[in-house]
Amino acid sequence: MTVRHLLADDDLTAAEQSQVLDLAAALKADRHAEQPLAGPRSVAIIFDKPTLRTQLSFTTGVAELGGYPMVVDGNLAQIGTRESIADVARVVGRQVSAIVWRTHGQDRLQEMADHVDVPVVNALTDDYHPCQLLADLLTIREHKGSTAGRTIAYVGDGANNMAHSYLLACALAGMHVRIGTPASHQPSADVLARAERIAGEEAGSVLVTDDPTAAVAGADVVATDTWVSMGMEGEKGDRTGQTSPFAPFAVTTHLLGHAAADAIVLHCLPAYRGLEIAADVIDGPHSVVWDEAENRLHAQKALLTFLLRASS
Ligand code: NVA
Repeated sequence: MTVRHLLADDDLTAAEQSQVLDLAAALKADRHAEQPLAGPRSVAIIFDKPTLRTQLSFTTGVAELGGYPMVVDGNLAQIGTRESIADVARVVGRQVSAIVWRTHGQDRLQEMADHVDVPVVNALTDDYHPCQLLADLLTIREHKGSTAGRTIAYVGDGANNMAHSYLLACALAGMHVRIGTPASHQPSADVLARAERIAGEEAGSVLVTDDPTAAVAGADVVATDTWVSMGMEGEKGDRTGQTSPFAPFAVTTHLLGHAAADAIVLHCLPAYRGLEIAADVIDGPHSVVWDEAENRLHAQKALLTFLLRASS
C-alpha cells in the first residue's frame, strides 16, 4: 500500500500541487462536492503549539468532507514525553484515516509518518508550513489568474518556516521567489538548494537578498510573517526592539511602493501591526489576507482528498 504524506511542500510534485489547487477552487465553489471521509471516518488533529486558523479550518474542513475531526491537545497527550512518538503513532494510526499535526521539530513529524499507514499532514513545524502555502497559492491564482511567471517577495525572517515554505512551494508553482532578509537570518542551505533545483525545472527562479527594496522591486505579490515565531518568544526583545535586524524589512506603504502597482499583500496571520506590517497596508487596498485565511479551509480539504485517494 502506498501512503502519501505532506511533511514538506516538495512532497507534492508540481503537477500534484496544481491538481490540489484546482480541486481547492472546485471545493470553494461547492463545499460538499467531495466526501472522502463519509462514514464518518476520523482525522486526528493534534496541536503542540498555539492555533486559531489551523484548528478552525481543519475541523470545519474534515466535517465538510463527511468526517469526524478529533482535536487532540498536545499538552495532554505529551507525545514523545509521556510515551514515544512511535507508540503514539501505532495507537492513533489504527483509529483514524489521517493525522494532522502541528509540532516543533520536523523529525517528530517524520517519526510519526514512519509508523503509520495513513496520511500525515504538516500543520506547521519549526521548518515548514505547507498548508499555508497551498492557501497562499490559491489566493494568488484568484487575484492574479495564475502563478507561473509571477514574482513573489517574502520579506522578514528568512530562516523561519514560512520563508522555507515560500521557497519550495512557490518554486514548484513556477514563480520567481525572492527572500528579503538580513544576512543573520538566512534560509537553510538545504531548503535553498532544493528550491533552486525545483525552480530550474519549473522555469522559475530563487533570489535571497539583504536589500528589502531589491526584494520587492516590481513584485506581483509581497508577503511577510511575524518576526517572533512560536517557540522564539525568548528572543522577542531582540527581534522586535529598536535595533531589530528585521526593521528595514517591515511592509510599509513606502516599501510596498517599490512593488508592482497592482501587487497583492499576503500575511499568514497572526499579524503584528506596526512591526512586520503597517496597519495601513494590512488594512489597505492591496491586502488579501482575509481571502488567504479563508482559503486555508478550501486548500486543506483538497489536500486531504488528494492524499486519501492517492493512499488507497
Ligand atoms: N512563523 C510563524 C507562522 C505562524 C502561522 C510561527 O511559526 O509562529
